[in-house]
Amino acid sequence: MKYYVLTLFPDLIRQITSTSILGRGVKSGAIEVETVNIRDFATRSSMRIDDYPYGGGAGIVMEPEPVYQAVRSVEEKLGRRPRVIYLTPQARVLDQTKVEELAREEELILLCGHYEGIDERVLEEVVTDYISIGDYVLTGGELGAAVIIDAVSRFIPGVLNNDESTQFESFQDNLLEYPHYTRPEEWHGRRVPEVLLSGNHEKIEEWRHEQSLIRTRERRPELLEKSFTVTGIWYGTDAARETAQSLTAQLSRYGTVLDYGRKKLQKMHRSFGPQDLLLLALPQEGQGEQTCITGLNSCPEEGLSERVAGSEKGLREKAAGSEERLQEKAAGPEKGLLEKAAGPEEGLQERAAGPKDGLREKAAGPEAKEMTFSERFRNLRGTSTPAVVLYGGDETQRQEAVKYLWESGFSVIEEVPCTDTYRTPEGCAGLSLKIRKKILQ
Ligand code: ADE
Repeated sequence: MKYYVLTLFPDLIRQITSTSILGRGVKSGAIEVETVNIRDFATRSSMRIDDYPYGGGAGIVMEPEPVYQAVRSVEEKLGRRPRVIYLTPQARVLDQTKVEELAREEELILLCGHYEGIDERVLEEVVTDYISIGDYVLTGGELGAAVIIDAVSRFIPGVLNNDESTQFESFQDNLLEYPHYTRPEEWHGRRVPEVLLSGNHEKIEEWRHEQSLIRTRERRPELLEKSFTVTGIWYGTDAARETAQSLTAQLSRYGTVLDYGRKKLQKMHRSFGPQDLLLLALPQEGQGEQTCITGLNSCPEEGLSERVAGSEKGLREKAAGSEERLQEKAAGPEKGLLEKAAGPEEGLQERAAGPKDGLREKAAGPEAKEMTFSERFRNLRGTSTPAVVLYGGDETQRQEAVKYLWESGFSVIEEVPCTDTYRTPEGCAGLSLKIRKKILQ
């Protein structure tokens, strides 16, 4: 990743990006940071790049031409036009989703304003993204640019080492991190929670999950609206199990992996309620090594508060066995949500018979084909019906899979033919593979 920071204060950027983890990333070549001094493009001999605002009023405004020329100088050097991000409080506030999106670029131009801002005309001409780092006003965009560089660089291979990269999990489930402790065991009369000293990893994970839920509910309750429970379900071969495990682990720190057959899934489908994402890993016919995947998800709207309020209970249930937990859930207030969302039973039969209505039209267009699995996953957030994303296979196989899934009570919102351009999660061999007929009949 190469960052070009257009600024009147290059030293500020150089200092921040030459220290600590960013400094190491720059040294190793994982990231590059080039500052471009907007003043170098001044059009007046005085080298001033700002002037009084038309219409009067306080403050001064940065002129359009030096900013324009600074942007052009980078574009000319690169021979292409990277995204140009203008740091301003008058924009949507940066979040982790945006950070991940930016991390997929090869270069970014970060434009830092000062004084009252930059002449609107040049912004209209060059800026692709307006980003704020918070609802407060800073003296300039440089700190915002540094925040973007820092947050984005964590996703650039080689910037974080193995120990540091565990931090990736902070927002993975849209839950805040659990509290951390190190030596000594007792400090100022406060002891490290006993469970962390127990050596029982399962119990530790449960405790951490619970703490994450409690902390999120207390400090950032709005994040819970976006959180998902991920369950990987597999059937058949070791390859299917591995795929389910790998996908689940990538999507959620606290995901559960279950060994289910088709019949069991059909029986259990009502157990999955709002905010469940299911990933089915099924073996492919004649190819023991390979697997086909479908992902199912339902809406994040209802049942959430109960679930979080009862997080302790949920954890106990989890410890008692995932199946029991699911059965209990099925009997709970979430029961029937899938049904509700999918419509009455008769509707299901009809739709099962004719799953084509609009589904294939809704299936991935050229844009969707470019999407990564995690983008697709994120896009599912906020959908209001139980949904299925179906990966791979050919037209007939997908049609059959759609039929099967509809009969099983899940509504299909998308089908995604796999292509070479599709970036599959690491370790997931199955996304471009075919659906096993036997399972679908
Ligand atoms: N420039 C001034 N205030 C800002 C903010 N809150 N975010 C990004 N850039 C800014």
